[in-house]
Amino acid sequence: MKSAAFFAALVSLLPAYVAAQAAEYGQCGGIGWSGATTCVSGTTCQVLNDYYSQCLPGAAVPTSSSSSHSSSSSSVSSASGTATSSAPGSTSSSTPTAGNPWTGYEVYLSPYYAAEIAAGAAAITDSTLAAKAASVAQIPTFTWLDSVSKIPDLGTYLSDASALGKSTGTKQLLQIVIYDLPDRDCAAKASNGEFSIADNGEANYKGYIDQIVAQIKQFPDVRVVAVIEPDSLANLVTNLSVQKCANAQTTYLACVNYALIQLASVGVYMYMDAGHAGWLGWPANLTPAAQLFAQVYSNAGKSSFIKGLATNVANYNALVAASPDPITQGNPNYDESLYINALAPALQSQGFPATFIVDQGRSGQQNLRQQWGDWCNIKGAGYGTRPTTNTGSSLIDSIVWVKPGGECDGTSNSSSPRYDSTCSLSDALQPAPEAGTWFQAYFETLVSAANPPL
Ligand code: BGC
Repeated sequence: MKSAAFFAALVSLLPAYVAAQAAEYGQCGGIGWSGATTCVSGTTCQVLNDYYSQCLPGAAVPTSSSSSHSSSSSSVSSASGTATSSAPGSTSSSTPTAGNPWTGYEVYLSPYYAAEIAAGAAAITDSTLAAKAASVAQIPTFTWLDSVSKIPDLGTYLSDASALGKSTGTKQLLQIVIYDLPDRDCAAKASNGEFSIADNGEANYKGYIDQIVAQIKQFPDVRVVAVIEPDSLANLVTNLSVQKCANAQTTYLACVNYALIQLASVGVYMYMDAGHAGWLGWPANLTPAAQLFAQVYSNAGKSSFIKGLATNVANYNALVAASPDPITQGNPNYDESLYINALAPALQSQGFPATFIVDQGRSGQQNLRQQWGDWCNIKGAGYGTRPTTNTGSSLIDSIVWVKPGGECDGTSNSSSPRYDSTCSLSDALQPAPEAGTWFQAYFETLVSAANPPL
């Protein structure tokens, strides 16, 4: 022990000689980091939080985040630290705009969803219904980057959106969902993902984020808004009794932290997923939820690109319910608006001035479920309120469609490895294919039950 400590002390005096210097915007420290802890000339290693130090241009500036880890990864000036620029990626997109990120932008329509809709509409024989179905392609939805294999699509869309913005003179905004945590969907099975914590998951996840960042960096004229990791932090609030969630807690926090910092460095506006009224909206869950979100926000350096929280993603709740659905009994926050109004002050008192976006893509019909916790392919659902920034609430930046309606929530095939029994409940439409794949019968009811009508 003694000799190891002595050797470590010697090494700390000679950091430049024991490891290569990290590149500009490269990682230079943080819990679990074993790479270079000094930076190339002209940049300074700055502690952004316990998990992540980064080589930023210029000399060291104090940050508001805590630094409880070892001196080897805290602020270290480079040999000749001349300040040449002030913020990561000194592009126009690196200075956050106050207020609503959608203002002044047109939302880019996902070609992936448009193709799904075109094929879905073409399969409908009733021509009136088919025309209504085809019109959904004009409604903006989010593009889910649910595996590394989807990332090249992002590059194509960014390039396309950039060209469109230049040719029309109307700036484009691209909506994405970051969704590839290791041990994903820890409290359910239907959306288990490609990475596992036991098999290099955290490093793989960082690679996934790095590839997304590399694409976005190339198109600073396209604004990107991202929902961060549906269900992940909400699971850490209420589902730590599930072994897989307890086991994932540290990794989820480290990965979400990495995503927030890296995406902020290329100017992505972010909303962390915050479950829905029937989950974190229960009075007993509000304060623990606010504490966790505020902590995550703080650990990520309180970037203004972290706008706030996304609610009701892939769920079915109303923004404002005409009357409480009987299944919500006992919860005064029986719709998303009530939930948001209850959570926002708790977040503010924790130092997180969050605003919200709310998924209404499949919320057109209400009072459909047997239990509020049911989430899989709910029968009778219809497309809901169209995306708009005209939300009626200063706390809500936009009503959005995050879940691409028509894509499945989970399979009802009990022999599938991702079978979740929730998808066989009596209020779930069956037979249902794998999560994320097209579910034509479901799409058709979304179209015919749309409210407002298509
Ligand atoms: C699935 C993802 C899919 C997303 C949007 C999730 O339930 O697991 O693969 O991209 O829904 O449809």
